[in-house]
Amino acid sequence: MNEFECELVDLHLLNNVDFTHYDKVVIGASIRYGHLNKKFYQFINTNLDALKAANVAFFLVNLTARKEDQGKDTPEGSVYMQTFLKKSAWKPDLLAVFAGALRYPQYRFFDRFMIQLIMRMTGGETDTTKEVEYTNWKKVSIFAESIKKM
Ligand SMILES: Cc1cc2nc3c(=O)[nH]c(=O)nc-3n(C[C@H](O)[C@H](O)[C@H](O)COP(=O)(O)O)c2cc1C
Repeated sequence: MNEFECELVDLHLLNNVDFTHYDKVVIGASIRYGHLNKKFYQFINTNLDALKAANVAFFLVNLTARKEDQGKDTPEGSVYMQTFLKKSAWKPDLLAVFAGALRYPQYRFFDRFMIQLIMRMTGGETDTTKEVEYTNWKKVSIFAESIKKM
């Protein structure tokens, strides 16, 4: 049985959200070449007051977070999350960092080459015929449980 009604929206496709329509909001964003999308920071600035007033959790996805033994999957240990918290005027109450998927066959030539280089340097998968999901779904479930209590 579904406990919640959920609406999924792509932030690229809208500028303003009426946060008062929702009990809880969860925003997820991924890292590409070391950064979050600039448009995401623009979205934060445009919606700052609403974000501050609403119940919003934030999660970040990247491949560095696969290194759980180094704490890269935690808000404190993730350089990307720490940079976000410095740059963003909005400081979410609930944060999470998850490892994403490595999908070589879906990347453009340049991205495939660059990501393979990064993987070689950081001891990850270098076989470009492969797709690897590094996501720790147990951690995602725990995050989902804390959203319920938010
Ligand atoms: C072009 C590209 C650049 C990426 N750059 C980084 C990076 O700098 N650091 C990192 O940890 N992960 C990086 N990743 C991994 C992504 O953050 C991860 O695969 C995520 O799941 C991608 O989600 P998205 O396709 O929704 O953006 C990169 C992925 C792509 C496709």
